[in-house]
Amino acid sequence: MTDVKFLELGRLNEPYLANFAPIAEQSFRSGIYIGGESVAYFEKSFAAYCGVDHCVSVGNGLEALVIALRALGVGKGDEVIVPGQTFIATWLAVTAVGAKIVPVDVDRLTANLDTQLIKAALTSRTRAIIPVHLYGAIADMGSILEIAEEYSLFVIEDAAQAHGALHNGKRAGSYGHFGCFSFYPSKNLGALGDAGALVTSDPNLAQKARLLANYGSIEKYVHLEAGTNSRMDPIQAAFLSLKLASLNDIIARRKTIASTYTNALNGGDSERISRLLKKDVDCVWHNFVVLVDDRKNFSDYMHENGVGTALHYPIIPSQQQCYSAEFGKINLPVSEGLAAKSVSLPIGEYLTAHEIEKVASAISSY
Ligand SMILES: Cc1ncc(COP(=O)(O)O)c(C=O)c1O
Repeated sequence: MTDVKFLELGRLNEPYLANFAPIAEQSFRSGIYIGGESVAYFEKSFAAYCGVDHCVSVGNGLEALVIALRALGVGKGDEVIVPGQTFIATWLAVTAVGAKIVPVDVDRLTANLDTQLIKAALTSRTRAIIPVHLYGAIADMGSILEIAEEYSLFVIEDAAQAHGALHNGKRAGSYGHFGCFSFYPSKNLGALGDAGALVTSDPNLAQKARLLANYGSIEKYVHLEAGTNSRMDPIQAAFLSLKLASLNDIIARRKTIASTYTNALNGGDSERISRLLKKDVDCVWHNFVVLVDDRKNFSDYMHENGVGTALHYPIIPSQQQCYSAEFGKINLPVSEGLAAKSVSLPIGEYLTAHEIEKVASAISSY
């Protein structure tokens, strides 16, 4: 019997219901169902939170990545560096613009791009790097920006899992030419449906992204580019603004839970089970991932002890059917190893002390 489910979104959003109900009603009665003030307000608030000048809201995180690549002019004939292990959207965005994916293996301690391997993957056609701040831990942006500068490459951060992560006083999404976010419901800043955003401090890039997301148009019925329709609904924007005010508390709570689990692992490393992320980087704990050789045994044990688990992500993109013909033979040993050993534990900010203890003691007893 699973008492502590891996994730309960209804419980996670319960604290916002009382304040959201009148906002939802107002939104309903306003008759403004596309764009409008609540979208503009969220964009302004989220840009300020990330420490950038502009935020362009879009329909979801995948579209944010696609629009970023298009706004930078990355397309056919170009190569883009992506991590070997990530949620597949990072790869799909590159495919969507017709560019070539160049996978680079990840660091075994963080599951983020192994920056030691990037230079060897560069060619004269490389145009961009998409670092992913996987599970909420900020990638090694210092090294990535240095390489990007040296080889004149664009940097698009896939910050879909890292809203609010900080490094040297800068937030995830504020390092690259663009930072791309998903507000998929399970994200730390999650909406009540699909939503996404790009952030940037470059006004021209912001304008280009806004245009591309709105049928290539700024002025009604005047179309400058063959754009797309990718917009955040006002009701999602209103909900996200409400939740954004609590994001720092959400992150703090997740950090507390992560440190309780880490203590249960004797500081991160027990004999049979170890914590991912053993480097000292800021992490907002979108997922708390442990590595176990006998993953099935561990998952069964947790389940028998009333703890739900999930797998992020059991098959790396290069081994998925849609990519295996082209990339299946590429050697990505760390990515593959992580995919085989990773198990995610419940870390929702709503978990009670009793539930956290239950997970921690199941970890310890294993
Ligand atoms: C790392 C990463 N990139 C991109 C995305 C795509 O976001 P969305 O599902 O909003 O399209 C997600 C989440 O789903 C993600 O985890």
